[in-house]
Amino acid sequence: MRSYMIAGNWKMNKTPAEAVELAKAIVPMANAANCEVMIAPSFVCLPGVMDAVKGSKLIVAAQNMANEEEGAFTGETSVLMLKDLGVKMVVLGHSERRHVYGETNEVINEKVKLALKHGLRVDLCVGELLEEREAGKAEEVCFEQLEKGLAGLSKKDMSNIVIAYEPVWAIGTGKTATPDDAEAIHGSCRKKIAQLFDNEVAENTIIQYGGSVKPENVKDLMAMKNIDGGLIGGASLKADSFEALVNFNK
Ligand code: 13P
Repeated sequence: MRSYMIAGNWKMNKTPAEAVELAKAIVPMANAANCEVMIAPSFVCLPGVMDAVKGSKLIVAAQNMANEEEGAFTGETSVLMLKDLGVKMVVLGHSERRHVYGETNEVINEKVKLALKHGLRVDLCVGELLEEREAGKAEEVCFEQLEKGLAGLSKKDMSNIVIAYEPVWAIGTGKTATPDDAEAIHGSCRKKIAQLFDNEVAENTIIQYGGSVKPENVKDLMAMKNIDGGLIGGASLKADSFEALVNFNK
């Protein structure tokens, strides 16, 4: 049966020194938590953070990676480099990658397959824009992102996939989807995964919610049947608010 995963996406915040300090504060929370705990610092913070969390239960993820293993790709970071640091997970297809940097479902799928090939877990983000929601297309957009993002994967591969549903209009805006609205999409995404793979895969896949998750709303969101954790931006940047999120079920 699936577990919960509370994850902090630090985005482009924290210097290397600040990142190490925050990671050290999170280690005891992760060790004592009754869910999985993950943080995703920026690339330059990864070496220091990997060192700081050694031997703990805290999972460290990269926020992105290249769709190629190596070569003339200025400014990119390879899965081989992440592996060398001991990084075990990568966030892919975040809405900021899709909508600020123009990543397509096809490129994201290449990255997903490359990460799995090298044994990394993947946190694949999906979610609709406000205009897509208003046009009644929220499900359709998420389904396409799931179908194309997970194309070519086996049922076994799916044991290394976490999905994060992040409605773009709720990210960093203070507007959270209501637990019922989020649950509706989570339930539909789980059905879509069952269609693409099977019921067992769908039941075992963690589907996180992301978008203005805070200590004040985390309990209500996590109480929903199909919400299995959170991918959290703003509220993950301070130890005390992240601790409240990690301990949502205590
Ligand atoms: P906020 O929690 O700041 O809305 O960010 C959500 C997010 O994009 C996490 O990946």
